[in-house]
Amino acid sequence: MPLSSALNYAPALQQSLSAAQLRLLHSIAAQAARQNLPIYMVGGFVRDLLLQRPSQDFDIVVEGDAIPLANALVQTLGGNLTAHSRFGTAQWQPHATDQNHIDLITARRETYAHPAALPTVQKSDIQQDLARRDFSINTLALRLDEAHFGDLLDPFNGQADLQNGLVRVLHPLSFTDDPTRILRAIRYEQRYGFQLEENTLRQLQETRSRLSLLSAERLRHELDLILREAAAPAALQRLHNLSVLEEICAALPWNPTLHAEMESALTQPPLPGWNLNPAPEELGYALWLLRLPRERIDEIQTRLRLPLDTYQSLCAASALRPQLPALQGKPTSDWVLRLQNQPLTALYALQLLNPIPELQEYAQHWRHIRPRANGDTLKARGIPPGKRYQTLLWALRAAWLDGKIRNEEEEERWLEGLVISEK
Ligand code: CTP
Repeated sequence: MPLSSALNYAPALQQSLSAAQLRLLHSIAAQAARQNLPIYMVGGFVRDLLLQRPSQDFDIVVEGDAIPLANALVQTLGGNLTAHSRFGTAQWQPHATDQNHIDLITARRETYAHPAALPTVQKSDIQQDLARRDFSINTLALRLDEAHFGDLLDPFNGQADLQNGLVRVLHPLSFTDDPTRILRAIRYEQRYGFQLEENTLRQLQETRSRLSLLSAERLRHELDLILREAAAPAALQRLHNLSVLEEICAALPWNPTLHAEMESALTQPPLPGWNLNPAPEELGYALWLLRLPRERIDEIQTRLRLPLDTYQSLCAASALRPQLPALQGKPTSDWVLRLQNQPLTALYALQLLNPIPELQEYAQHWRHIRPRANGDTLKARGIPPGKRYQTLLWALRAAWLDGKIRNEEEEERWLEGLVISEK
């Protein structure tokens, strides 16, 4: 379907927002009009509205001061407010019971003290606010205050780039100022099936080495965002083709097998019985990196500082993977002994990549099999407490797992035998 080239998007807003959301926008617009403040919906919301993929992420730029407007909104409409006076931004949560919030931002321009620094901001107008942004497709704004409701502001031809499927930077120093945009460009390109505009591609290649200036946190945040995308494997492929992955860290792997396996793992429905809902980026890192040996994982960890859970899952999966073949044919208790203290996400990722019936059994059944007895039971039977309890209780659990105990009477008999031998 050809994308719209309308100049007013009031009808599109009406179509894609709920009645409650529209009422809310009109209330904000009326309040802004009372304070004589032009306000604009900007960024991802507008881009996605024009792409007919409505999002709920409201970012509103205020030409003037956003915080007094936000305060007036809380007074008239209620809700919770978090204001950052240093940046002139406010987060307003209109309904205390609903996590959705609206970002109200004072129009600003940004300057960079040096490449890859965080920007210095100064109050400004909407044109300059749009000019500070990464790509033309993110510079579209819809004016909201009453008489202008839905008017499109498009100073950088974002609408045409959306129609032509192009990711285009606004100026030649964009990637130099902010190298995270290298990763953002690929994320948008792959998410929407777009292409990098010719000059943008050239500038990206010329500034690739600037990625080394980024802190671990900023870099990892961008990789997290990529791993949350449905098109994550395609984006990693593209980062590899453009030599961006190796620029981030030489230990980051990519090859066609990895691509195919990751894609197939991520398109599977959730595995039954695991009761696990890992963050997509945690699962993404595991699927991407678990084949690596520990030294490589540690190199990556030094560069990206992954969260501890993610790092531990990776190390666990990497150590376990080569040991799985040797467990084949072993008693259930041997499997459980090896698997029981491993992060479940590590096992889940291994199972998605290379399904093994025993891993599935472990997640679905074996890990829940426990004897009725516990430390108190042993104590009540007069066995002196001590380190031995752990060994005894594991022996009991192993007997259940291996089918040597099948019911409570058998467990009872096992315990009686134990009491005799322990006394
Ligand atoms: N932005 C930028 N440079 C960055 C990060 C953000 O110019 N390094 C601008 C972009 O114009 C973007 C806006 O800030 O539209 C908000 O950023 P973000 O919330 O990350 O993106 P969204 O536009 O909401 O898009 P999405 O969340 O779908 O990626």
